[in-house]
Amino acid sequence: MQKKEYRFDYEVYDQIDELEPQDRELLNEARAVTAKAYAPYSRFLVGAVAKLKNGATVSGTNQENASYPVGICAERALLSSASMLHTNVPINSMAIAYHNLDGSSGTPVSPCGMCRQALREYEDRTDQKIRLILSGMEGKVFVIPVSSQLLPLSFGGENLK
Ligand code: THU
Repeated sequence: MQKKEYRFDYEVYDQIDELEPQDRELLNEARAVTAKAYAPYSRFLVGAVAKLKNGATVSGTNQENASYPVGICAERALLSSASMLHTNVPINSMAIAYHNLDGSSGTPVSPCGMCRQALREYEDRTDQKIRLILSGMEGKVFVIPVSSQLLPLSFGGENLK
């Protein structure tokens, strides 16, 4: 028997002001785009903005539905748009922000399991890691250098061969 350990490093900033200008801009865009979320049921507005390797910027917000499971998260809305508009172009960084209309928005949240799987596949197909910048509308910012590190021992296309 062997024991194995899984760990990854990420950065924690107290405020958006501590980020490099490019990251600050991306996070500010993600905070602003939360206003375009359609989240009348959860009232939890999520905005994601990505900078692509070709210089393009693509955004996404969560889109809910009265039939709850039909809703889609901001991250996967973004990935679908990026795949359509800039097919096979890698994503350098994605900022994800949220605005909780009924609570506080001062602690970063990280992508749900389904979005982690979608991010992992996007990294795989474009052969490039995606950096995540996570925050609410204020307060701490987490920078995760490789999105797929959030999904250890993940399942992927290689397993289907
Ligand atoms: N949501 C996202 O869009 N991204 C996340 O990373 C977490 C959750 C959405 C789904 C749903 O519309 C609302 O937030 C509450 O779960």
